[in-house]
Amino acid sequence: AQDKRESLYIVSNYAAKFFADKMWNSEEGKTIGLSYFKERGFRDDIIKKFELGYSPDDWSALLDSAVKEGYQQEFLEQVGLVIKNDQGRVYDRFRGRVMFPIHNFTGRVIGFGGRTLKTDKSSPKYVNSPESDIYHKSNVLYGLFQAKKAIRDFDNCYLVEGYADVLSVQQAGVENVVASSGTSLTTEQIKLIGRFTKSVTILYDGDTAGIKASLRGLDMILEEGLDVKVVLFPDGHDPDSYIQKFGAAAFKSHINSHQKDFIFYKTEILLQDANNDPIKKAGVIRDVVESIAKIPDAIKASIFVRECSSILQMEERILIAELNKIRLSNS
Ligand code: UTP
Ligand code: MN
Ligand code: MN
Ligand code: MN
Ligand code: MN
Repeated sequence: AQDKRESLYIVSNYAAKFFADKMWNSEEGKTIGLSYFKERGFRDDIIKKFELGYSPDDWSALLDSAVKEGYQQEFLEQVGLVIKNDQGRVYDRFRGRVMFPIHNFTGRVIGFGGRTLKTDKSSPKYVNSPESDIYHKSNVLYGLFQAKKAIRDFDNCYLVEGYADVLSVQQAGVENVVASSGTSLTTEQIKLIGRFTKSVTILYDGDTAGIKASLRGLDMILEEGLDVKVVLFPDGHDPDSYIQKFGAAAFKSHINSHQKDFIFYKTEILLQDANNDPIKKAGVIRDVVESIAKIPDAIKASIFVRECSSILQMEERILIAELNKIRLSNS
């Protein structure tokens, strides 16, 4: 089984090299793939650091080349680089897309994300490798291999939504950044971050989906005993679009001035909807206390109860009573 996994790593590595070679050295790759990344504002050093590539717009470019080099079709199928349909026809999964290899945290290639170059909605924006014996999405964070040293050094991890966000944030000189690409955040991913730092800052997209995901994510992070802050981006921006539009310096200062402890963030978001309606406000209080109840450390929790009491102008003893009630019903 170990031998088989090794074979899967080897074909995945071959594919990453193949896609990168096509992007840097073929006419199609240069004019379509490389120029796409350049137009998005990515520098050569970042394109190389993440081993980005291009999959030719062809049904079997990778398959043919790999087989010719002596790699077994069977292994390409097992990592989903090649698909065999019901009629037995075999073809490349990624065609005419810019390619983001996904590494495990020791740096081995385990899967891919491929972005369409089309601007219409005729095909999905990203196609991702399926689960395989070497790729378990719920245990993987995009960019962790490139970020782990900085995460340790800064004792903090920025968490973004997408591949392009990781690239732009890294390019802005902020190297402690990972994405939970392709899945919503999992407990396993948070535990993985927890091996490098106990402090996470969520930088999700400034749209409804991003806000919703941030509220879910912060509860999960608290439950794992990590500290969590959140930065909201304006006008539907994500970290990538913000950096490409306003620059690295503006991005860093936005982060520093807008990062909020989870409790301020959550309270602010929920109070916007409550609109001074007292019943709704009671719901907000309960919601915020529910997040506090997830914090395993009792001393930390009591500090947040005090914060909450002052933000929401609600007596501490009432919040504590509510907290205890929630704790009891959760246990
Ligand atoms: P977004 O829709 O925010 O895309 O999805 P993005 O990362 O900003 O993409 P760009 O900037 O247009 O290139 C966030 C992440 O969700 C996953 C990808 O990992 C993406 O980076 N996703 C999104 C998919 O897996 N499939 C999709 O069709 C869309
Ligand atoms: Mn397995
Ligand atoms: Mn989005
Ligand atoms: Mn986005
Ligand atoms: Mn984006």
